[in-house]
Amino acid sequence: MIKFIEEQKLFQIDTKNTSYVMRVSFDKFVEHVYYGKKLEKADFPYKDKIISFAPFIKETGYGFSLCTRQMELSFFDSGDLRDTGVRIKNADGNSVTLFYYKDYKIFDGRIEFSDMPYSRNADKTLELIYFDPVSNCELSSYYSVFYDTDTITRYMTIRNVGSEKVTLESVIACQVDFAGGEYDVTTLNGCYYIERMPETVPVACGIQKIYSKRGHSSSHFNPYIQIAEKGASEYAGNVFAMNMVYSGDFVSQVERTYENDYRVMTGINPETFNWILGAGEQFTTPEAVISFSSVGKNKLTQNFHDHVREYIVPKEYKSAKRPIVINSWEAMYFNIDEEVLLKYAEKANELGIDTLVVDDGWFLGRDNDKTSLGDWIADSRKFKDGLKAFSDRVHERGVNLGIWIEPDMISEDSDLYRQHPDWAIQVPNRPLSLGRNQLVLDMTNDDAINHVVNQLKETFKDVKIEYIKWDFNRSLSEVGSLNLPKEKQGEVKHRFTLGDYKMRKALTEAFPDAMFEGCSGGGGLYDMGIMFYCPQIWASDNTDPVWRIKIQQGSTICYPLSVLSAHVANTKSNKIEKGLDYDYRYAVASGAVLGYELNITKFSKETEALVKAQVNDYQDIYPLVLDGDFFIIDKLGKKEYGFTLVSKDKKSFAVFYYNYGRTKRTKINVHGLDEQLTYNFMGKSLTGKEIMQNGIELPKEAKLYFTTRSKN
Ligand code: GLA
Repeated sequence: MIKFIEEQKLFQIDTKNTSYVMRVSFDKFVEHVYYGKKLEKADFPYKDKIISFAPFIKETGYGFSLCTRQMELSFFDSGDLRDTGVRIKNADGNSVTLFYYKDYKIFDGRIEFSDMPYSRNADKTLELIYFDPVSNCELSSYYSVFYDTDTITRYMTIRNVGSEKVTLESVIACQVDFAGGEYDVTTLNGCYYIERMPETVPVACGIQKIYSKRGHSSSHFNPYIQIAEKGASEYAGNVFAMNMVYSGDFVSQVERTYENDYRVMTGINPETFNWILGAGEQFTTPEAVISFSSVGKNKLTQNFHDHVREYIVPKEYKSAKRPIVINSWEAMYFNIDEEVLLKYAEKANELGIDTLVVDDGWFLGRDNDKTSLGDWIADSRKFKDGLKAFSDRVHERGVNLGIWIEPDMISEDSDLYRQHPDWAIQVPNRPLSLGRNQLVLDMTNDDAINHVVNQLKETFKDVKIEYIKWDFNRSLSEVGSLNLPKEKQGEVKHRFTLGDYKMRKALTEAFPDAMFEGCSGGGGLYDMGIMFYCPQIWASDNTDPVWRIKIQQGSTICYPLSVLSAHVANTKSNKIEKGLDYDYRYAVASGAVLGYELNITKFSKETEALVKAQVNDYQDIYPLVLDGDFFIIDKLGKKEYGFTLVSKDKKSFAVFYYNYGRTKRTKINVHGLDEQLTYNFMGKSLTGKEIMQNGIELPKEAKLYFTTRSKN
């Protein structure tokens, strides 16, 4: 799995289908030599690469320039004049950085982070140890192998072993260099209400980067970056991707030089980061996940899906059935009324919906978005006998209770802010921008974190709650903390994210019986960092089914359906659906984690029967949503999308196809079935081979969508 090949000084990391190879050159530098299809045995002897005018050091000679070779790590202004990943301001006051390779270790498992999310249960880890004699820092670069999923994780730890403090100005998590060829880059871009729209463009000379400076991974760019060889398709060609297990300011970028050298990097955004490392201190970066596929993009998608399900989400939720919720937000917004909610609970039980989620508006004075964040006490105007009595009544009606929180935030109009105005993120002498009428809690401050955690513990004490929706409704601006000294203000952004993780850890531990759902003004925190604590995430506030198809399509490129929370609702902005077609809306939402978000007490008898049938039908689908392998339906037009979910044992499958354009499709293809197995499918008994060879004839009425599945 990980070996050191002495003769050529190569490290070879193998996963089931891929190999990743590095070479130690001149006993000092670690070069990247290969990432691709699995190799029997790596054979990459050192060769000079002579590029006129490229900087070099006398010791290595002309044939080795840090500026033109493929390196595992890159250091600021030491001959590598491309964008570099590591930059440390040393005690001399300059930021020239250069670490030399020193040693390595290979060990079972991995080092688990205590303060950050990470990929659990690695098979093996390679640690490459470097030293910079000027900054007096030691650097460990870790590569953990997840053999079956063809994924490798990477991060770094920097230790100041000298006696003077230094400043970390940039420390990325992962870099992959390669040379030659032509590539496309795909990223997931968007904004509030239109999250994760995939965009693919050719990799051009210069730097193409996506990033966040918003204090959360954001709706605007997701940290995922995919690089595909020109011409690669869903089922053929070389393609690889990187993503972060991180929720704060990030950068993911690809650089191409005119010599056709490529560098792909991801990590904390250096623009909003500056970290003082005192003597004896160490800093660990968040982790990146990388994966490669030689058989097209769909396999890469599967690798990330499996990685998230196996190693990121809490293990108890890996294959645990998710609640089917009725969420109060779009049905009643802030008008939380106990009696009305109890009617929802009764109706939910009749329909088979198992959890009532009381969204925003339940706590002290929270009648609109201008007030009360930070006062996590049930509003006695809305819950006459308290939250416990309400919860009991909900449970008496046969459904579970969910509740909404937004603990990283604070309203100016709140008791908490009146008592602790210093607990908001702020800088002196500047007006503070509001976002959705609110400020942000200073999550670098343990007192603030502990206060909110303790208050929530008290409020939810003895209250039976099975589900907690954790929202985060604004980006950070005017970022500073009154809790930290002046020279540490550059640390606020990362410390804020660490504070958020600290609180997520505390609250998930305090409420072990509740499943946490992530959310951020829709899908502004849709990343693996959050998935470590929250096994599912509200993907978008946009519940129009056509928009949802697009959002689900983009989200699914990297993240599994089991983390994607999708509700049947009443919002409509499309022109292709006649009225509100609940069958259509269900066809979209049931390709993910199904829920409802509308007034279920006002349904007609027919709609009630329909919803009942949907909830019942979903019982057969959700195991595939939780655990199935994803196979995209390829060769479709621009406004079409579809996929087949195949159970791990290949014995059952479900097909989802959507068409929101004008393409007259009569047939779709199917991938991933077992050729030999016989399936009971669309009234016939057919082998996997027959189904895959013939494709599926779409019934005439299936203009907008078509879903079907094998029957046992
Ligand atoms: C955000 C969420 C919504 C809802 C509201 C409540 O917009 O995305 O689902 O919870 O906040 O204020």
